[in-house]
Amino acid sequence: MPAGKPFPGGHRRARMAPEVVDVRILVTGGTGQLGSAVVTRLRATGEEVRVLSRRAAPDVVRGDLRTGRGVDSAVAGVDVVVHCATDYFGREAQLARTLVEAARWAGGPHLVYVSIVGVDRVPLGYYRAKHETERLVADSGLPCTIQRATQFHGLVRTLLAGASRLPVVPVPRISFQPVDVHDVARRLADLAQADPAGRAPDFGGPEILPAAELAEAVGEASGRARRIVPVKVPGETFRAYAAGGHLTPEHREGEITFREYLAGQVHGK
Ligand SMILES: NC(=O)c1ccc[n+]([C@@H]2O[C@H](COP(=O)([O-])OP(=O)(O)OC[C@H]3O[C@@H](n4cnc5c(N)ncnc54)[C@H](OP(=O)(O)O)[C@@H]3O)[C@@H](O)[C@H]2O)c1
Repeated sequence: MPAGKPFPGGHRRARMAPEVVDVRILVTGGTGQLGSAVVTRLRATGEEVRVLSRRAAPDVVRGDLRTGRGVDSAVAGVDVVVHCATDYFGREAQLARTLVEAARWAGGPHLVYVSIVGVDRVPLGYYRAKHETERLVADSGLPCTIQRATQFHGLVRTLLAGASRLPVVPVPRISFQPVDVHDVARRLADLAQADPAGRAPDFGGPEILPAAELAEAVGEASGRARRIVPVKVPGETFRAYAAGGHLTPEHREGEITFREYLAGQVHGK
């Protein structure tokens, strides 16, 4: 794909690879935690959905957003791309750049990007990369929607899982607003089926709870409750967390609570 060429527009169907079934929505990262829930949700509403993955599987278009391999075919013919693929090694913007370039040549579908509440307030490398990617998407010239969400239940559970193994568990003196991926997926599916919204209102979980209380819940759910000791963690990142930089108290739209999520985990729901 030649770099820096003007936005071609109107070529979507012409660039369709013959083996790719015509669908309206592509989900990158459709094999991941959030992406797979988005795919399920969209299909439940009657949408034909294509999934991009680096791994061969029956229902996916194989492609790699790092190398660009297969991305043109994945994007060809779609009206909407929900971008849930992510890179934890500093290449978040690179993945999006590849996608944006392919999307321009595919006629400019609506690009929906999922980011994290506080990427502009918490000085973590991954958050900086997400913030840079938000700007890249916003400045891409593509019709776009950017949705920030708070931490997923699964991440918070993993962070606090030590609570179920140690006799005394030190937990940072911060709060979380965990949200369920199925709630976020519902919001993303709605956005994918709506007009481009630019930066959408943040999306957060229903409760803001101290990490100590969440750690207690993790311990109880695993049947191994332990003594939780809240500790102050030094450093600017934890200062930003302690100040609530990753929270969105005015957006508690998520419905599934952390304890409900844990109950589902325990009973294999
Ligand atoms: N976890 C949280 O608490 C949280 C909170 C708010 C927002 N978010 C955001 O939500 C999004 C999804 O997170 P998640 O936890 O669902 O991610 P995840 O489960 O780790 O899934 C990552 C996905 O990215 C795909 N991927 C990675 N590198 C790729 C590449 N080079 N080319 C194509 N696909 C690639 C993987 O697909 P294959 O391996 O199949 O190729 C996989 O489906 C991320 O943008 C994340 O920042 C997460």
